[in-house]
Amino acid sequence: MRLMFIGDVVGSPGRKMVKDYLGPLKKKYKPTLTIINGENAAGGRGITEQIYKTFLDAGAQAVTLGNHSWDNREIFEFIDQAPALVRPINYPEGTPGQGYTFIKVNAIEVAVVNVMGRTFMSPNDCPFQAMDTALDDIRKRTPFIFVDMHGEATSEKQAMGWYLDGRVSAIIGTHTHVQTADERILPKGTAYLSDVGMTGPYDGVLGMEREAVVKKFLTNLPVRFEVAKGREQLSGVVIELDPKTGLAKSIERILINEDHPFYF
Ligand SMILES: [Fe+2]
Repeated sequence: MRLMFIGDVVGSPGRKMVKDYLGPLKKKYKPTLTIINGENAAGGRGITEQIYKTFLDAGAQAVTLGNHSWDNREIFEFIDQAPALVRPINYPEGTPGQGYTFIKVNAIEVAVVNVMGRTFMSPNDCPFQAMDTALDDIRKRTPFIFVDMHGEATSEKQAMGWYLDGRVSAIIGTHTHVQTADERILPKGTAYLSDVGMTGPYDGVLGMEREAVVKKFLTNLPVRFEVAKGREQLSGVVIELDPKTGLAKSIERILINEDHPFYF
């Protein structure tokens, strides 16, 4: 059982990288299940139904979101008819969509969970308690559990890694758009990476046009951010799971850009 996760797809440059590389990556790593974080996929803000479907057509089986889940109003029209789409679990009860879903592959069910940090982010419900509640339900069905923790603070993501060690297959961070190099298998068998990084523009600031971001820092005046043009990158991770226990056996980062070319 092998999971592949592609980090935060930003705008059309990110979608182009998915289109160009998902096939070759699937050929190279042969994942049983492929998951994409798509919360910035529509012009850097949210996701549309068409983009969600494009990801599934390209070969992903699940799509996760984050704090930008609601940026594209269209989400409210289709989120409840999108079984492979998950938004953070720790929104108040009654929020549209779902915090986790079960994807069936080769007669095995894999749970895909999205949870959001709240350090330097909006004050959602407690992510730790939300995971406890969700795992009570999920672990009755399957030990194969992938968690995308969408958070700003490395400390909060590391804490969640330790909190969930041995209870989930993998906990992989998203949201900062910068890949960290701390991939490891925690002592009780959970694969961990603080942030998987971003799929999109390589020469912007977190995917946005750098001139506008620099101007914002220099002047603190209102500035319109657009997705950067030019060279692209893809960030991801591949995790091998024990087919019996659902715990991780290995974790490998993927980074593709002009400085880190893709080798088959
Ligand atoms: Fe985010």
